[in-house]
Amino acid sequence: MEINHENYEQLKREINFHNYQYHVNDAPLISDSEFDHLLIELREMEGVHPEWVTADSPTMRAGSVSSDKFAKVPHPSPVLSLANAFNKDDVQAWFERQVKTDQRLENTSFVLEPKIDGLTIVLRYEKGILKQGVTRGDGIIGEDVTANVRTIRTIPLAIPVKPTNLSIPDVLVVRGEVFMFNSDFEKLNEQLIAKGEKTWLNPRNTAAGSLRQQNSDVTAKRPLSIYTYQILYSEGGEIPQTQWERLEYLRELGFPVSSESRYYENFEAMLNGLDRWTEVRESIDFDIDGVVIKINDLPLSEGLGFVGKDPRGQIALKFPAREVTTILENIGVNVGRTGVLTPYALFEPVVCGGVTVSKATLHNFDFIRDRDIRIGDRVLIKRAGDVIPYVIGPITEARNGNEKAFSIPETCPVCGHKTERLEGEVAVYCVNASCPAQLIRNVEHYASREAMDISGLGIKVVEQIINADLVHDVSDLYILSKEALLGLEGFADKKAENLLAAIEASKQQPLNRLVNALGIRGVGEAMAELLANNFGSIDGIADADKETLESIEGIGPNIAQAIIDWFDQDSNKLIVERLKRFGLDPRIEIKTKDAKADLPLYGLNIVVTGTMQNYSREGIKALIKEYGGKSADSVSKKTDYVVVGDNPGSKAEKAAKLGVPILSEQQLIEMTRQ
Ligand code: IVH
Repeated sequence: MEINHENYEQLKREINFHNYQYHVNDAPLISDSEFDHLLIELREMEGVHPEWVTADSPTMRAGSVSSDKFAKVPHPSPVLSLANAFNKDDVQAWFERQVKTDQRLENTSFVLEPKIDGLTIVLRYEKGILKQGVTRGDGIIGEDVTANVRTIRTIPLAIPVKPTNLSIPDVLVVRGEVFMFNSDFEKLNEQLIAKGEKTWLNPRNTAAGSLRQQNSDVTAKRPLSIYTYQILYSEGGEIPQTQWERLEYLRELGFPVSSESRYYENFEAMLNGLDRWTEVRESIDFDIDGVVIKINDLPLSEGLGFVGKDPRGQIALKFPAREVTTILENIGVNVGRTGVLTPYALFEPVVCGGVTVSKATLHNFDFIRDRDIRIGDRVLIKRAGDVIPYVIGPITEARNGNEKAFSIPETCPVCGHKTERLEGEVAVYCVNASCPAQLIRNVEHYASREAMDISGLGIKVVEQIINADLVHDVSDLYILSKEALLGLEGFADKKAENLLAAIEASKQQPLNRLVNALGIRGVGEAMAELLANNFGSIDGIADADKETLESIEGIGPNIAQAIIDWFDQDSNKLIVERLKRFGLDPRIEIKTKDAKADLPLYGLNIVVTGTMQNYSREGIKALIKEYGGKSADSVSKKTDYVVVGDNPGSKAEKAAKLGVPILSEQQLIEMTRQ
């Protein structure tokens, strides 16, 4: 933004407005990092034109204002904030500045702590009893939310929680961060979905909304948590003088303290320790937006003083924001190879998780309906790690009435054919088998590495050959000619020959790959392997009825039906016929592994005679069968064992004559246990 006075005033108004939305209305319209960036821009302008700065500049205060919902409480000492660093160079520069002020820092130790993405809370204990819980407010005066704070189960109502020798000051004021574990947040949203109620957008908003509830019964139902990290004030008693010892002290008194915090002997070690946090961010069950770097020696740290509201002895190394807001410009619809229509969001490009994004998935049409996402909405999007960006939901407070609701397309956006929604399914389908969108995805899938692995046949070439009318289904690949390929843009002799050779080579692929390549709904790599191993050929699968398919472990009724439907379609029958004609009819020997072979009585002929103690005659026969054996009525040379009970008949004698081993009932039972 150009630096002129008008822009400066405008930016100031904008920041003050967002501040109000965030702190007073609990309804932020932009993400924390967007807010930080506005503030950075304002600071830059003020750096160039210090004469513009007036008392109402957002840079002049701790970044918060209070509403009149709660009683005002002055803090015993200012509740300060942190300056930000965005990379290791910033951290290095910060430390060098401090060493210049105080050379004793050269050998100082450090503590790294998670920068929890929650809300500051200030807890006041008098004679060990929790007296007050106060929000940060403007850093000087906060809001009394004691009733709500008492509902947070991990906040001690009295300290110490267990007997200790530690000295406890008469007045102890502890600062911590109230937040919600991601798993608790997800559970909460699941409960809301089950009740058909509106869900929350993210753990932070939920925690904020919950802490500033007028009715503490509502707060009590929200799974809030806390980690403490600072002693803001103490009176009448000894407290440790290093940050690391204070964390331990707080823990000993019974306060929750994050176990992710670490101690480092010197600056170098701490700098190396920063690398660990990328992984920590992925693995922990709560959101952090950075790492807080703290000089361990607190008198030394405090001696460095402040810049505005930020103490010099601590700094936050911020991570790239994963959640940002942007304007949803449109909703596009993709058609997959099985004809499923999938909506996606097209929005104003934003930096999210360190990269610029302009598209994100919207999952399915029910999601758009349930979250009431409208075109023109300001939406919250998220991109974490390798996960593709997705839309979390709309910021409904930012609506101006011009947003447009979206309705499920009644026709396929590619071929115009009527769409269908199957009973009980979320997905909406284009059921036109010759829809070009499906054909492109179908051929792309057929050629993919997991299927027929035809190199040189990626999505671009697939589009070319389909648009040039050379391929109408996958079997057409095997009649492609060099001349036809040479007519396509970018194809010279070599490229055409290589592609034809790769297509030819695919004729040697094994059955499981071909089955996967056909693109039957629900049949992926694993299912294709199962089908190949059980039926041995394409015809074997095509001829199987639903019952036979379902009798295979791992194949449920839906997939069985999809397989039947696929082979029932005339167009698919033709594809299979043509593939066979072109030499694609791989076969394998069916592995008939008899599951019973593992049973302890497998293959044994057993005859029972006399009265058993534990079983009736029928019962013991059933037992033999259950464990894989066969029970016959008469003894012969083929009999492996005779089980003899009380008052046996002639069978026992016959067994003795033929040399057939005799078992007692107990011995048989023991055999079943082997
Ligand atoms: S230290 C002078 N430590 O981050 C002490 N803050 O942008 C300054 N925060 O308002 C705070 N985790 O709400 C500190 N381990 C931690 C923190 C932490 C989260 C928050 C805190 C503060 C904000 C600073």
